[in-house]
Amino acid sequence: MVNTKILDGKLTSEKLTEKLKLQVANLAKKPTLAVLLVGDNPASEIYVKAKLKKAQSIGFDTIFEQMSADTAEEIILEKIEDWNTIDDINGILVQLPLPSHLNKNKILNEIDEEKDVDGLTKFNSGSYYTGVKDCVVPCTTRGIAMLLDEYGINVEGMHAVVVGRSNLVGKPTAQMLLNRNATVTVCHSKTKDLESIIKTADIVVSAVGEKIINGKILKNDSIVIDVGIERRSNGKITGDVDFDSALGHASFISPVPGGVGPMTVIALMYNLFDLYRRQQHLLQ
Ligand code: GUN
Repeated sequence: MVNTKILDGKLTSEKLTEKLKLQVANLAKKPTLAVLLVGDNPASEIYVKAKLKKAQSIGFDTIFEQMSADTAEEIILEKIEDWNTIDDINGILVQLPLPSHLNKNKILNEIDEEKDVDGLTKFNSGSYYTGVKDCVVPCTTRGIAMLLDEYGINVEGMHAVVVGRSNLVGKPTAQMLLNRNATVTVCHSKTKDLESIIKTADIVVSAVGEKIINGKILKNDSIVIDVGIERRSNGKITGDVDFDSALGHASFISPVPGGVGPMTVIALMYNLFDLYRRQQHLLQ
């Protein structure tokens, strides 16, 4: 039996919060995060509330605007253009998913690349995929990287399996693992025999939203990063991994809740801080 250790995202994010608070307290002016939420998706409302609360607790200013789900695309583009021109706004976040009548890429790419706190514009994602050092890394990916660093996990030479290929999580996380010299396999809904591929993973990152992983299909001593989040009918929040069955197989596992979720939020805060310092020429 393997002694499974927990990758505690809650504790790690608290430590990183305290560190950031000290740095923010030394700034002459507070950085400002602007968040736009279109529609009233309950999960998005919860995420946005958590982001705004964390930002305020660190000492950032926040601007929040919620628009109805049937808002015309031009109105949203105008709002982003307006925020782009306001010097006091340092980071702009458009919460995803957007209602289906909206062109997500067009909206995200309207964000000034210097204020792209999510790293989702084509400029920042292109920079990341071509190896530019100082670009903005999407929050979940940066959060996972911070969690690996906290626990001293070096993925060099490991076989990393990423399940999910979204622009938000799967693709940038695969790139992050590749940058750290893992050998990366990206799996998705059309992958054949997913289980046998997961069985070969030294580290598996799952961002699917369905219970697809259990202890039986894990390689012994593997590292398991669970990005899934699902609210059960009993109100319980669970991830992609059957946590209890993974104990005794995985060497490390991130729980849900309390794993990647809080790391995503704190990574957003570090992204905002970096953007601010770059805008103020405090960061090279
Ligand atoms: N929805 C779920 N996660 C995220 C995120 O990291 N950024 C944005 N913009 N929307 C999300």
